[in-house]
Amino acid sequence: TLPRVYVTRQIPPEGLKILRESGQVQFQLWDSDDIPVPRQELLEKVKGVDGLLCVLTEKIDAELLEAAGPNLKVLSTMSVGFDHLSLEELKKRGIRVGYTPDVLTDAVAELTVALLLTTSRRLIEATHEAKTGGWGTWRTLWLCGYELANSTVGILGLGRIGVAIAERLAPFKVKKFIYTDVAPRPELASIINAEYVSLDELAKQSDFLTVCCALTPETKEICNKDLFSKMKNTSIFINTSRYILSQDKLLTMNENSLRTVIISCLSLILPHIASASYSTRNAMSALAANNLLLGLRGEPMIKELKL
Ligand code: GLV
Ligand code: GLV
Repeated sequence: TLPRVYVTRQIPPEGLKILRESGQVQFQLWDSDDIPVPRQELLEKVKGVDGLLCVLTEKIDAELLEAAGPNLKVLSTMSVGFDHLSLEELKKRGIRVGYTPDVLTDAVAELTVALLLTTSRRLIEATHEAKTGGWGTWRTLWLCGYELANSTVGILGLGRIGVAIAERLAPFKVKKFIYTDVAPRPELASIINAEYVSLDELAKQSDFLTVCCALTPETKEICNKDLFSKMKNTSIFINTSRYILSQDKLLTMNENSLRTVIISCLSLILPHIASASYSTRNAMSALAANNLLLGLRGEPMIKELKL
């Protein structure tokens, strides 16, 4: 009999097609994209499966792995992030883990540029003014923003995505790229001619600060009140990473400093859509499906997490 697989979401069609046409697995699917599979249902459905294809709304922890039982050998997540996975528990059970880096780099970089221009040129405020009658006449400094031309762009966490962002911003005549990371990354930095600086300097010098690092114990809540207090009050802060913003600290700040942070840093909040282009979500779906099938055959996955 074929290996049994549970798919925790109605994933984009390319991945489902690969699973269907492989003839290699029998799979069951949580047949909705609007809500995640309820936990109880998930714990039932994973019983005895050989493989699991999940998305980032499923917590893959000891309880779930216990419910699945010893047949489970392969987990494939349709995400680049993996904070929903208990890596230790997976490792302990010898379960291999696939994920989907690289295929979403372009989409995330494009969204970052979109956010950057939207905030720097105050497009949300401007459309609001236009719709609500605030646009009376042309005014000399009304809705002025800041240009990328001659600016310093800071990158917190220089990886594939940081490089892709800088490559897209360079044609806007950025003066200088600076970055920080746990250590200098000369090979990546040389692609975009970026200078390594401390986190402090990054905060102080950046006109635009873009955060595109992985969530690790070191980066968790790295962007806190202390960091914001070092930034120029005109600078623009763009984050596409997970949980790097210190939520508590923002909320407990006094009204004045909170206002500053919101105005200078947090003028736009989006849902979790950085990788949301049709081509990228399908590529993630296909990669997740292929990782799963390769893993079940005992072959190296295309993108496998080292546990
Ligand atoms: C998006 O946040 C992802 O992890 O794929
Ligand atoms: C803008 O349209 C200008 O003429 O300054």
